[in-house]
Amino acid sequence: MDTAAEALVDVARASGSVDDGRSQIEPFWGPHQGGITTLMQSHTYAAALDLISTKREDVIRLLRAWTSAAARMSCGQTAQATGRDVAQPAPDSGEALGLPAARLTLTFGFGAGLFVKDGKDRFSLEAQRPQAFVDLPRFNGDELIETRTGGDLSVQACADDPQIAFHAVRHLARLAYGVAQMRWAQTGFISGVGPNQTPRNLMGFKDGTSNPAINDPTAMERFVWVGGEGPDWMRGGSYVVWRRIRIALEHWDRMPLDFQEQTFGRHKYSGSPLGLEGEFDPLDLNAVDRDGNPIIPESAHVRLAAAASNEGAQILRRPYSYNDGVNFITERWPPWRQGMEYDAGLFFVCYQRDPRTGFIKIFDKLAKFDMLNQFVTHTGGGLFACPGGIAQGEFVGQRLFETSRL
Ligand code: HEM
Repeated sequence: MDTAAEALVDVARASGSVDDGRSQIEPFWGPHQGGITTLMQSHTYAAALDLISTKREDVIRLLRAWTSAAARMSCGQTAQATGRDVAQPAPDSGEALGLPAARLTLTFGFGAGLFVKDGKDRFSLEAQRPQAFVDLPRFNGDELIETRTGGDLSVQACADDPQIAFHAVRHLARLAYGVAQMRWAQTGFISGVGPNQTPRNLMGFKDGTSNPAINDPTAMERFVWVGGEGPDWMRGGSYVVWRRIRIALEHWDRMPLDFQEQTFGRHKYSGSPLGLEGEFDPLDLNAVDRDGNPIIPESAHVRLAAAASNEGAQILRRPYSYNDGVNFITERWPPWRQGMEYDAGLFFVCYQRDPRTGFIKIFDKLAKFDMLNQFVTHTGGGLFACPGGIAQGEFVGQRLFETSRL
């Protein structure tokens, strides 16, 4: 690393995000991992990997190498120091050379398979599995594809440049050769994120209006960060749920505007609750029309998902749209249709202090009653424990391996 770059890294370490003249550098070291309460970047590349080595030392070596590469890349550096030995593969593939850091964050998580897999405690970690780290139940309507679900380790790159996000995960996967291999991956994008702007999803609705505020430490302590109830290595960490949700866009696009608005319980253009005008007007679930019918339908998405309907449960949503092209379909029932349908939708990502009182609590109800279910199918996903932040000199999850010393 050159001296100017080292200086930048030091600033980023000391003072949160910094501007390198071309883009922001998000802090890598600190009490929490990046990419959770970071203002959403425009692109993501998320990957779940399976551990193929059964040696604990290999996992530790991998996490050490990942931490060092992630710290470098978050500052706009190559994954490893570049070499000049032309007889060797270059330590970095080079597609991010000369590009800014683009607010890259890398968020690491541990899947259930790190603790126990096929009944085997491969790494002597089973006793450290937190109580809150349950397996996700099967929800109503789930159509999860095994090859797009689960994983022993997760890493999510988020950046304001898709090439930077992919480069980062590609290099982490490269460092994992022989220890872990990619199980599945998902790209995503979102436009129109800003401190005072809510982005729209592919259904055309503002998505993120009623999210706990990322700049409110009290709300984050309450709903996102694991506190004293968790094991030491999870304190300051969080649990992430990923869901790959296909949306039947062809079907949705043929629905009348008022039906679309009833489905969500919000107006499409303003984002306000039905019957109101301001995007941030509070949701009044008791409001009724002249005939005494609820203005926000009983099965509207926001009614069922609201904290008031779930004993105060809240999660921090960080969803990205995805677009994976089209699939060929045949319908063998009238109208005997053959054609193409989009494989596009929402890569739903949410963080919470405890999945039992977060995603599981809220989604159990949505999966059963949400009007949106007519248009969406959950085809993949995972639940990962994202350890607390990384202090300089530490590697991600170090405290987990220390407390379970052999
Ligand atoms: C394709 C799938 C989904 C779409 C398109 C979608 C879209 C939306 C939209 C447009 C809103 C209203 C604006 C806002 O407050 O952000 C919303 C709110 C919300 N959604 Fe979803 N959502 C989806 C899936 C889910 C899932 C799987 C959950 C799981 C728990 C969820 C939880 C929530 C919550 C908690 C709110 C806030 C409710 C409130 O407090 O008003 N959503 N969603």
